Amino acid sequence: MPTRIASGRRWEKIVIVLGIETSCDETAAAVVDDDRRIRANIVLSQVAAHRPYGGVVPEIAARAHVEQIDGLIRQAMTAAQLEFSDLDGVAATAGPGLIGGVMVGLVTGKAIAAALGKPLLAINHLEGHALTARLTDNLAFPYLLLLISGGHCQLVLIEGLGRYRRLGTTIDDAVGEAFDKTAKLLGLHYPGGPAVQAAAQGGDPGAVKLPRPMAGRPGCDFSFSGLKTAVRRLLANEPGLRAEDVAAGFQQAVGDVMVDRAGNAITMAQAYYPGLAHLVIAGGVAANLHLRQRLAVLCQERGLQLTAPPTGLCTDNGAMIAWAGVERLRAGLHDPLDAPARARWPLDPDAKPAPFAGKKA
Ligand code: KG4
Ligand code: ZN
Repeated sequence: MPTRIASGRRWEKIVIVLGIETSCDETAAAVVDDDRRIRANIVLSQVAAHRPYGGVVPEIAARAHVEQIDGLIRQAMTAAQLEFSDLDGVAATAGPGLIGGVMVGLVTGKAIAAALGKPLLAINHLEGHALTARLTDNLAFPYLLLLISGGHCQLVLIEGLGRYRRLGTTIDDAVGEAFDKTAKLLGLHYPGGPAVQAAAQGGDPGAVKLPRPMAGRPGCDFSFSGLKTAVRRLLANEPGLRAEDVAAGFQQAVGDVMVDRAGNAITMAQAYYPGLAHLVIAGGVAANLHLRQRLAVLCQERGLQLTAPPTGLCTDNGAMIAWAGVERLRAGLHDPLDAPARARWPLDPDAKPAPFAGKKA
């Protein structure tokens, strides 16, 4: 049984949790302990299966999760060199996400928890992203989180475990969607974010004129549908434009918007916590080097430290779900075996719906 020295005298058992993630197009399983050690972290991307369709197809995703999840969990346990009986809890994403996929992972987690007689942790996927910086950088509460992915674009004040105050969100598309749609318009392959970033490297952002939606407005909500439409119009009106220049111009526009919105969020967060010292970025779009650079400059100007987990832990993974499980277990929390799978599940239930928002969690 894994143990550690908790103090000079006493031996104490390490808390070890299995994490399962199936809410979108990654099937993932990981084993993490409360010493912040990632003992296994296996992510199987379904990108190739969805690429012909230019986006995630929910039915294909759910079927692929069903086919892969058992073997992946077995692989994770083998890589961690542990028996199932060594686990102290089983964490699975219970939402928000594509409901078919969420159900696959949650039911699997429930079955393992029930068979072992160990606690189930039904994790909010966004909480997994929100707490990752505590796993990777041992960050103390509170901190400001910029969550930027294919499904989300939010600024959230992380005040403590289970205490999340949403300061701003997108009123239409997520920023990752904007990257993916822009890539499609430019004839680049799916997923679009890395392709746009690569194309932008050889481009001149000054060669195209694009809007900066919401920049200069009070608050820190986002809007990206107008930017995507502007790219479409630009390409229709000026067919001779170089894809590299459009990609660079688009990335620059997103960077300007991010810096403006995050700047306002820092002011709002510091009104609650004057000593606030960290901005954390998470989600797949946090892998973007241009955005990282721009946000690093913003943080430097505002006296904050930018914390960016390694890209493999910014995109969807099982380690963040296992870690959220560790945190909840340590706080004495766990969930009943009939915990529901939820397509929508806001991190901050008190947050007012974003104006005009129709589809986001
Ligand atoms: O967090 P994630 O893996 O999945 C969810 O959406 O939950 O994020 C995927 C998104 C996609 O839209 C993808 O295009 C975007 O992250 N992305 C990037 C980059 N790498 C991934 N966007 C911009 N630049 C990148 N380097
Ligand atoms: Zn995610």
